[in-house]
Amino acid sequence: MSILIVGANGQLARHTTARLLAETDSRLTLFLRRASRLPNPDPARVTIVEGDATNEAALTVAMKGQDAVYASLAGEMGQQARAIVGAMHRAGLKRLIFISSMGIYGEVPGESYRSILDPYRDSAAVIGASDLDYTILRPGRFTRGPSIDFTITHKGEPFKGHDVSMNSLAYLIAKLCLSPSLHVRSSLGVSN
Ligand SMILES: NC(=O)c1ccc[n+]([C@@H]2O[C@H](COP(=O)([O-])OP(=O)(O)OC[C@H]3O[C@@H](n4cnc5c(N)ncnc54)[C@H](OP(=O)(O)O)[C@@H]3O)[C@@H](O)[C@H]2O)c1
Repeated sequence: MSILIVGANGQLARHTTARLLAETDSRLTLFLRRASRLPNPDPARVTIVEGDATNEAALTVAMKGQDAVYASLAGEMGQQARAIVGAMHRAGLKRLIFISSMGIYGEVPGESYRSILDPYRDSAAVIGASDLDYTILRPGRFTRGPSIDFTITHKGEPFKGHDVSMNSLAYLIAKLCLSPSLHVRSSLGVSN
């Protein structure tokens, strides 16, 4: 299994990279801006590619030969999602795991989150309108605890809980990357 990680220098992406290297035999391509910041954690299995997630042409090249794409981004997420979906079409890939946030559908009881989540809403809408085998994750607030313990809620259901450990998310992301049909075309709330 070959996995492209877009936004690979983010804290959750680095956590998930470590898990994928420790728990699977996947080959990883780490795609990030200013690649000199990230030491290669395992040169036998990891390729590092410098690029911007809004650059569809660069993403298309990086997607060659991959089985799954895991995107863990921030900022101009609508534009990034459009570039990723376009590149996946051009590269002939189907499987996308995309990190969003709790609250994008007003699903967290007592919270509105308003415009701060607009980039997350835009990107989820772009991906949801695509024909990809996507799984959008809407995590709660990240914690650093060692536990792997989480609850999933589906789109249309109220979000349960508030926090989730990065260990839990890395476990779930790794499972999704390795399982082409698990939770396909779904947007999942994740918290413990
Ligand atoms: N922390 C929480 O409690 C929490 C809860 C729910 C959801 N989330 C969301 O989950 C996502 C991942 O979280 P995180 O803590 O891992 O975030 P993070 O550390 O800020 O990582 C986001 C990464 O996105 C990269 N990025 C942004 N624009 C890019 C572009 N145009 N091209 C390439 N890379 C780009 C950044 O790269 P640079 O290093 O080059 O800037 C950064 O490494 C974020 O969207 C976050 O808001 C977080």
